[in-house]
Amino acid sequence: MIKNICCIGAGYVGGPTMAVIAYKCPEIQVTVVDKNISRINAWNTKNFSNLPIYEPGLDEIVKRCRGKNLHFSEDLEENIKKADMIFISVNTPTKKYGIGAGKASDLKYVESCARQVANYATGHTIVIEKSTLPVRTAEAIKAILESSRNHIRQKGDSITFDVLSNPEFLAEGSAINDLINPERVLIGGEDEESINKLCNIYSRWVSKDKILKTNIWSSELAKLTANAFLAQRISSINSIGAICEATGADIREVAKAIGSDSRIGSKFLDAGPGFGGSCFKKDILNLVYLAEYFGLPEVAAFWNSVVSVNNWHQHRISRIITRKLFGSLSNKKIVILGFAFKANTNDTRESAAINISKDLLNERAFLHIHDPKVDPNQIAIELDMPQNDKDDSKVLSEEGCWYFVNDIYEAAKEADAILVTTEWELYSSLDWRKISKVMRKPSWVFDSRSILNSKEVKASGLNFWRIGDGYE
Ligand code: NAD
Ligand code: UGA
Repeated sequence: MIKNICCIGAGYVGGPTMAVIAYKCPEIQVTVVDKNISRINAWNTKNFSNLPIYEPGLDEIVKRCRGKNLHFSEDLEENIKKADMIFISVNTPTKKYGIGAGKASDLKYVESCARQVANYATGHTIVIEKSTLPVRTAEAIKAILESSRNHIRQKGDSITFDVLSNPEFLAEGSAINDLINPERVLIGGEDEESINKLCNIYSRWVSKDKILKTNIWSSELAKLTANAFLAQRISSINSIGAICEATGADIREVAKAIGSDSRIGSKFLDAGPGFGGSCFKKDILNLVYLAEYFGLPEVAAFWNSVVSVNNWHQHRISRIITRKLFGSLSNKKIVILGFAFKANTNDTRESAAINISKDLLNERAFLHIHDPKVDPNQIAIELDMPQNDKDDSKVLSEEGCWYFVNDIYEAAKEADAILVTTEWELYSSLDWRKISKVMRKPSWVFDSRSILNSKEVKASGLNFWRIGDGYE
């Protein structure tokens, strides 16, 4: 019987996943640990709307369970010691140095977790890979754990480990729903007893037919493959969107026509500003690295093209904006609606808004950036540029600069263009007549998410561009 779970890594995966396990399994004590003390403090905040991660429904679950069977702690040693089951849910960024730089996953955080588990674990511990990892990482984790086991055995203590792979498929913005109603749970491993123990946890709320059991390498590779396939659909639809714009076709109509074929399916066919988020790019690059490593250059080139089309597409959007605004953005004010990489999250990692904003800043635009959930300090980090200290649209900078705005109507005053980069619902119900009255003419609205009512925008006297729309 599992009584104590410890999760290392209190991020976008560790936090919500453990909150749901605690919520569904009240008799299990679940503790999420992290070396980042300020993150742990934020999880323990008194005000539940200040949790470090914004996900619809997350605050409610944390409110119900925190302090009862859900805990957030910086004490790794103590929590590893008492855990029967440990989830490793730390970040696995793209390696920036040495062999595989720019492609391979940097496994230093995973390795350091394995070493901490090896040092502190007691009795029998099931160690679970929750992070997304290259195929055969479990081998390295096992080797580290095994070496400590031999070491401790010499002292006469009994200490054993088993390693399972249980990748996470939640998407940000819908994490709680995805965790409570998953389409599948994947468990890869060798030891029947350990697999069943993990299976028993999920089966409290997931039907058994949705719990897939595989060998450990298939489980690791299936996670990378799932992300690669999803990202591939987005690059595919965005590439066809560019053809639509050139030919008079409409990507929404094309997507509907192809998506009606059940072999293709209708999901993940929304043309947009290019995929963002912390994982698609990093996971495909990891796949590219693996293919190269195993001597499969054609396979590597195929998957690499998914990432390069995405990069090209994001720069294509900023080029379109610059062209429509007479080839120069110097002394022009552009309102950016949305900085998160998708709606319903405060996560900005790899957001398309970053590349597009950087291009516009390079053209010396004055950006007024709005987002209902993203902290302006985070935007400054992503753009590698501090916020302008005042909102003075009359004294525009000769250099590009940006300013964070809370009031979209105020920001629209004297603006030359408005660009929708994130599909937040509030942007689809803006009063375009009111906005049009205060913008500088000729003014443009660029909708990279297809969420605006084009008729309304055009009827209010604004020029309108929409992704993949060849009618315009
Ligand atoms: P994150 O950066 O939000 O959180 C990771 C946390 O791990 C950080 O708070 C960091 O301080 C902590 N950490 C790192 N090393 C540590 C150590 N040795 N000891 C203690 N704490 C440590 O990352 P995330 O978005 O939660 O992603 C985690 C993993 O899950 C990645 O492999 C990612 O690919 C995968 N994943 C992410 C998502 C997602 O939606 N973000 C979805 C599925 C899978
Ligand atoms: C994605 C996967 O959907 C999850 O299954 C996976 O667990 C996760 O990556 C991960 O491993 O990190 P996430 O990145 O949170 O989840 O969000 P998605 O909904 O997949 O969106 C990714 C990007 O693609 C966003 O920028 C989104 O705007 C874009 N997108 C998505 C489109 O442009 N069009 C679409 O039709 C769908």
